[in-house]
Amino acid sequence: NGYFTYDPGFVSTAACESKITYIDGDKGILLHGGYPIEQLAEQSDYLETCFLLLYGELPNADQKEAFFNKVRMHTMVNDQMSTFFKGFRRDAHPMAIMCGVVGALSAFYHDSLDITDEKHREISAIRLIAKMPTLAAMTYKYTIGQPFMYPQNHLSYSENFLHMMFGNPCEPSNVNPVLAKAMDKIFLLHADHEQNASTSTVRLAGSTGANPFACISAGIAALWGPSHGGANEAVLDMLNEIGDASRIDEFVARAKDKDDPFRLMGFGHRVYKNFDPRAKVMKLAADEVLAELGLENDPLLKIAKRLEQIALEDEYFIDRKLYPNVDFYSGIILKAIGIPTSMFTVIFALGRTPGWIAHWNEMISGSYRIGRPRQLYTGPVQRDFVSLDKR
Ligand code: CMC
Repeated sequence: NGYFTYDPGFVSTAACESKITYIDGDKGILLHGGYPIEQLAEQSDYLETCFLLLYGELPNADQKEAFFNKVRMHTMVNDQMSTFFKGFRRDAHPMAIMCGVVGALSAFYHDSLDITDEKHREISAIRLIAKMPTLAAMTYKYTIGQPFMYPQNHLSYSENFLHMMFGNPCEPSNVNPVLAKAMDKIFLLHADHEQNASTSTVRLAGSTGANPFACISAGIAALWGPSHGGANEAVLDMLNEIGDASRIDEFVARAKDKDDPFRLMGFGHRVYKNFDPRAKVMKLAADEVLAELGLENDPLLKIAKRLEQIALEDEYFIDRKLYPNVDFYSGIILKAIGIPTSMFTVIFALGRTPGWIAHWNEMISGSYRIGRPRQLYTGPVQRDFVSLDKR
């Protein structure tokens, strides 16, 4: 009827109905299928949580085994994928490679891209969840010039990822189970977060009828930005730039200065205004990993802890309800595990994949319309064309 609401940043617009994830930002509540994130992080594991996001219920023992086996069957990628990698510069950003190679998966599965077929949608979901660690690790191996590692399907999902990241063909793999558990927790804590920017991107792309691999590739692109998934990488860059605890005040002052675009990375959230429940779990996991690796005195980590303390006591951050978010602590754990900073956002993408695919599937299997936002036009009013000699 010509009327629409103006809501830049979608601060107060619900674009869909969803049964997958519930967030109460004021109370710091995050539920998947009704289950609190704290309980899932403590008692579930990443693949089981993937099942919950995809099917809406926790699996029983048989369903769990069947799902895990299906994922295991699809961990390898077509050998021709290695040709795609070779087209990139070795110093390409891993997220640039991921946008390309995940989208390229569409080219390998022509026979199962009918989005109206439930079985096709399911196999695509399994393929994406199974192949993301393989592609992520291949991306890393490519950038450091080492041979790609095949997945080892007797390993758990997260052990397998660490094996493909850090193993090499000359030696037997030796994955630290404590680090694999921390990795699993990181994946689980990132698994879904309702209509965030990348998930909304996946839904918008999906609303055109695009195939799931193309849609997830769009989600990866949206995640890359420093306001979203790129924040975990930006946190470490920031800590490196601060360099010494004596410079923290200077950076806090910059973050408060409205003429300076600098923000404290890893602080603030659009929805959480008291605390980010994922950050609480992540903080505990960070302490465990640092203790396991004897890194409690790492200088960068000391800066992080001090920064957190200062920001939590500062009026500017208190007034604006800016608390450390999930990316603040995940960066610390990933650094301790030895994941290079440029891979941090790739880890986020890997963890978020079941959320993206669950939202895509929920939309496609229900009734939906093409996403088509309107605008407030602020350009020139209608005018007559001016020929080149008169301009
Ligand atoms: N440092 C300093 N000031 C900040 C920060 C920050 N990190 N975040 C927000 N503010 C200020 C902002 O300048 C504004 O101040 P004022 O009211 O005086 O103008 C006020 O707080 C509200 O900020 P906003 O930009 O309107 O909030 P938003 O909801 O649009 O943005 C955010 C949320 C997460 C993009 C933002 O807090 C931010 O840029 N944080 C740093 C990046 C980051 O850590 N992102 C990861 C988010 S969690 C994981 C994920 O979702 O991917």
